[in-house]
Amino acid sequence: MSPIAPKNGLLYKNFHSHPAALIKAASGIYLTTNDGRNILGAISGAAVACLRYNNNNNNNNNKEVKQAVIDRLISVPYCHPDFCKILSADGLANFLVDSTGGQMSKAVLCKSGSEAVEVAIKMAKTHFNDPARTEPERSHFIPIRKEPFHSLIAQTSSRVSACSTYRGLLHSEGDDTYNTSPGSSTPSSGAEARAMFARSSPRLSAAAGCVMPIRGYFPAMKAICQRHCALLILGEVMCGMGLTGSLHAYEQEDVVPDLLVVGKGLGAAYAPILAVLVNSMLVDSFQRSGKSVAHGQTYMAHAQAAAAGLRVQQVIRERGLVAHVREVGEYLGRRPREGLLAHPYVGDVRGMEASGG
Ligand SMILES: Cc1ncc(COP(=O)(O)O)c(C=O)c1O
Repeated sequence: MSPIAPKNGLLYKNFHSHPAALIKAASGIYLTTNDGRNILGAISGAAVACLRYNNNNNNNNNKEVKQAVIDRLISVPYCHPDFCKILSADGLANFLVDSTGGQMSKAVLCKSGSEAVEVAIKMAKTHFNDPARTEPERSHFIPIRKEPFHSLIAQTSSRVSACSTYRGLLHSEGDDTYNTSPGSSTPSSGAEARAMFARSSPRLSAAAGCVMPIRGYFPAMKAICQRHCALLILGEVMCGMGLTGSLHAYEQEDVVPDLLVVGKGLGAAYAPILAVLVNSMLVDSFQRSGKSVAHGQTYMAHAQAAAAGLRVQQVIRERGLVAHVREVGEYLGRRPREGLLAHPYVGDVRGMEASGG
């Protein structure tokens, strides 16, 4: 009996159904299905494909990101950063560190946001597990949201709700008292905390749309962390790398974290590449203690992914795309406010630049 070719062997989201459309080509902001439909790729993989699919520059149909990946593939397809230097990974790490104006001093390159978050958590643990620090009571992570995105944090955390003045502001409160008063969503005690883990706005989760924190919220969190010597980890996987109008979202209120997780637009859908940036205080602490961070994975700092990330970031810089985000973001924010806010079923419209909801 001749074997029957299996169909739908790939498990998508669930066992009962799979996506109907087979995408056979992608160009600009459009996807083409095998039955000939052209679909506007409006979400582009949740804030990922931010350079258009084929990286066109309209009249200059270059393929620079793809070429950077191909060059790496041909020269050295794979080697591991535990044993050798990787040119493209070094290049991307240097670019990222440089992009913070020296506020961060090292970068770890990962393949997914989940892995990058794990790296950040391990670094915080390593920092406080240094015997010289003698702070064993620091055992908690405090994610700034009700249901932490990351199950890893959920196991070892207390939690505070995300900043939402629309739902949470008491009648007697103004924004400034909301940011600092006990009972607001800003944590008022961090004594046991290893780290506060905040997504530095504006999204609460990929599935729940956007929750914009009010101005002053992140400075208030940073102040609490400083008061209690807790680390501040900002998760900018969904809102960094230009999406909210500055390369790093933290720049907008100048709240420099101890650890910064960036992703999505870093590789612009050309390769899975995310990064954790580490500030110099932590790097010094690791160097003094002689500890290394207990994290290693098969494909970390992957040469082709790093080459894609580096070229994507260079293209974004060369074409001034972050300024463009600010420009269109103003429009994208204003139009729904003008058109929808008066509607009785719409309570609030918030978001930032290219990330509204
Ligand atoms: C803030 C944040 N952190 C982490 C992740 C997880 O990233 P990944 O799906 O690459 O594991 C996401 C995914 O959307 C995210 O938005």
